Amino acid sequence: MKSFHLFSDMLHCCKKERWLNPGRMAPILLCSLFVTSIFSFFILYSPNPFQATPKQDLDQKNAMIQPQKAADDENCDVFKGYWVPDLNGSLYTNLSCATIPESKNCFKNGRKDKDFVNWRWKPDECDLPKFDPKTFLRIVRGKKMAFIGDSVARNHMESLVCLLSKEEIPTDIYKDSEDRFRTWHFPYYNFTLMILWTRFLVTGEERIINGSKSGVFDLHLDKVDNEWSQKISDIDYAIISDAHWFFRKLYLHEGGDITGCVYCSEPNVTDRGLGYAIRMSFRTALDHINKCKECKGIMTFLRTFSPAHFEHGTWDTGGSCNRTGPVRKGEIQLEGIELELRNIQVEEIERERKKGKKGGKRFQALDVTRAMLMRPDGHPGAYWDNKWMKGYNDCVHWCLPGPIDVWNDFLMAMLRKEAGLSLD
Ligand SMILES: *[C@@H]1O[C@H](CO)[C@@H](O)[C@H](O)[C@H]1NC(C)=O
Ligand SMILES: *[C@@H]1O[C@H](CO)[C@@H](O)[C@H](O)[C@H]1NC(C)=O
Ligand SMILES: *[C@@H]1O[C@H](CO)[C@@H](O)[C@H](O)[C@H]1NC(C)=O
Ligand SMILES: *[C@@H]1O[C@H](CO)[C@@H](O)[C@H](O)[C@H]1NC(C)=O
Ligand SMILES: *[C@@H]1O[C@H](CO)[C@@H](O)[C@H](O)[C@H]1NC(C)=O
Ligand SMILES: *[C@@H]1O[C@H](CO)[C@@H](O)[C@H](O)[C@H]1NC(C)=O
Repeated sequence: MKSFHLFSDMLHCCKKERWLNPGRMAPILLCSLFVTSIFSFFILYSPNPFQATPKQDLDQKNAMIQPQKAADDENCDVFKGYWVPDLNGSLYTNLSCATIPESKNCFKNGRKDKDFVNWRWKPDECDLPKFDPKTFLRIVRGKKMAFIGDSVARNHMESLVCLLSKEEIPTDIYKDSEDRFRTWHFPYYNFTLMILWTRFLVTGEERIINGSKSGVFDLHLDKVDNEWSQKISDIDYAIISDAHWFFRKLYLHEGGDITGCVYCSEPNVTDRGLGYAIRMSFRTALDHINKCKECKGIMTFLRTFSPAHFEHGTWDTGGSCNRTGPVRKGEIQLEGIELELRNIQVEEIERERKKGKKGGKRFQALDVTRAMLMRPDGHPGAYWDNKWMKGYNDCVHWCLPGPIDVWNDFLMAMLRKEAGLSLD
């Protein structure tokens, strides 16, 4: 029953979106599917995005010994760089971290190649220190951090819980009945970490057609989703994201009226495009934080678009992601929909950063898009253990351990900068 439901939902969504996007040649996200209430699985249709083999070049290795800017140089853009081999591997394993969810525990689910954990991110002009749980926990001692977003945001939090578990095992202090909202507490450091689940950041209601869920949503672009916004008053750090749920048919409401849609073709409704819906949803969410009187001193990071990597087809035509290493620098460009969405997100956080300065609120981009575009090898692919979806690949979420752990290297670097420590 349930699997049938998922199936019709998926087909419904994707057939529609495919013909709505007939002319696109570049990699495009075409459809999404609803797997469980907390776990959404999103699809990138990419005909042939990565041509070359992922073997690393010698010049990349050599670049490691080129002269460096000081690591704490203000001008070093840590998000621009490339992946270099790092035989030290991941800081944690599925044995040291007991909280890896089944769907991300790729090794447990049979993934054989292990080299994908043996890489680290090398910014062009400086070094990015590897995550250090003790340093991180010292910075966030007594603080509260919330991840605000969908299942990819949760994936990020799960990576952080694993990394921090090397220093202290947290207690699971809250979980709602659907396991969408979850809170961990690190008693020694009195650090609280939570996920506030939201598909769109703004209010979104699924249309029920003839008694069943349609996969079509009504979005209220000017109404923040209360499910998260009411819970941030005592939060010190917010890490906000979202994007994948927007790749579907949406009706956009502003001021109580339908002002447009995404992926619809109706003569009386203008298709405003996915980018518009994402831009306005982030604007509403960030504005809410900026205006929030109870959230004094909050620091907000916007984690930019996390690309999916389907190859040899779409999710429903055998698309897979079975590469075993990163793509080389220069082998893939940040372009197309990934660049568009990432730029929109960066523009919106910049806009808010300028506005926030007066009120003491800080906003920064956690600009992971470029680094992750180079990691087609980092997804669970076939190794995600989902009973309902046998034969389908998850090329959207990320294995734990895996390249998603770098998001926390970035986060730590930014927190250290804020805390006035140098990067190394
Ligand atoms: C690997 O770990 C060792 C010991 O902790 C350290 O000295 C070395 O710098 C690390 N290498 C890299 C590439 O991180
Ligand atoms: C951990 O990973 C290994 C492979 O590295 C796998 O054989 C094992 O089943 C996994 N164990 C758990 C508890 O996840
Ligand atoms: C733990 O941190 C919270 C804020 O997150 C604070 O209200 C509380 O007093 C702290 N508890 C202790 C024992 O320091
Ligand atoms: C709803 O169900 C009725 C009766 O089964 C059918 O005629 C109609 O086409 C359905 N509407 C939609 C939108 O599927
Ligand atoms: C557009 O037209 C359809 C069919 O005529 C109607 O059901 C719908 O309410 C209209 N939408 C708007 C926003 O006017
Ligand atoms: C990866 O998947 C493609 C398509 O399913 C297949 O042709 C290819 O042999 C696979 N490669 C590996 C290394 O498994």
